[in-house]
Amino acid sequence: MENQVDAGAFRQFEHKGWQEVASRYHAGFATVTVQSVEALLNAAHVKSGTRILDVACGPGYAAGAAAVRGAIPVGLDFSSEMVEEARGRYPTLDFRTGDAEQLPFENSEFNAVVLNFGMLHLARPERALEEAYRVLRPGGRVAFTVWDTPDKAIGFEIVIGAIQKHGDLNVSIPAGPPFFRFSNPDESKRILTAAGFINPVVTHIPQIWRLESPDALFEVMYNGSVRNAALLRAQQPNVLEAIRLEVRRGVELNHNELPMPAVLASAQKGN
Ligand SMILES: C[S@@+](CC[C@H](N)C(=O)[O-])C[C@H]1O[C@@H](n2cnc3c(N)ncnc32)[C@H](O)[C@@H]1O
Repeated sequence: MENQVDAGAFRQFEHKGWQEVASRYHAGFATVTVQSVEALLNAAHVKSGTRILDVACGPGYAAGAAAVRGAIPVGLDFSSEMVEEARGRYPTLDFRTGDAEQLPFENSEFNAVVLNFGMLHLARPERALEEAYRVLRPGGRVAFTVWDTPDKAIGFEIVIGAIQKHGDLNVSIPAGPPFFRFSNPDESKRILTAAGFINPVVTHIPQIWRLESPDALFEVMYNGSVRNAALLRAQQPNVLEAIRLEVRRGVELNHNELPMPAVLASAQKGN
């Protein structure tokens, strides 16, 4: 899968996108992504004293929640704008700019590594897990969340369905690994095992996106995401308006409350 992707081009595309949306992220997607943080930390056995690395930390929610448990977190994101958001939100915590695929840490520095909705944005997720393995101590744990498939994570079904109906899903944007690749529990377990981890476990986390208005889903996808925003921005203007109205109808049908479950995968580095 990695071979079909121009990793450099995709990374650059994601990096530019996250730099641009960083200040809008908290009011948009974060209202859902924060919902899985406690389960993520539990899966990584984060407790008082745990040295934990929050990779692709965004505004730092997992690091912040880990600190509340008495853990010792470091947050890392390749977007300097996101790192600034995190520092603003959690001024006493340690946040660094860096790449998930080339972690700026020594071997065996952490007891836990987590990625909350980070894996699906990486050009080379395999490398990120190999890096997580490297910086973990023996017996340490890795945990990551991704979105469940669009038939369950309804916000995606509504938007993808609207583009399919009125527009074109095959517009030219830098190709990345399949967005829902790790929604498949077997694929998540496979990549964890391939990176050297043992005892992989996958669970599902129910989450609900309560939207302020029927237009909010389109707004967040258009202004607060990267790959889906690029997909929308590449549509013809008249088509885009039809998509917007279709998305609004989809949200109204769900009474502004969209199921957006996550898939949570975790595993351990052997002793
Ligand atoms: C969907 S956001 C998740 C943010 C946060 N973890 C949360 O729980 O809401 C994805 C994050 O991954 C970061 N990211 C994407 N590719 C990365 C990479 N190669 N290295 C580090 N961070 C990366 C983005 O900058 C963005 O902050």
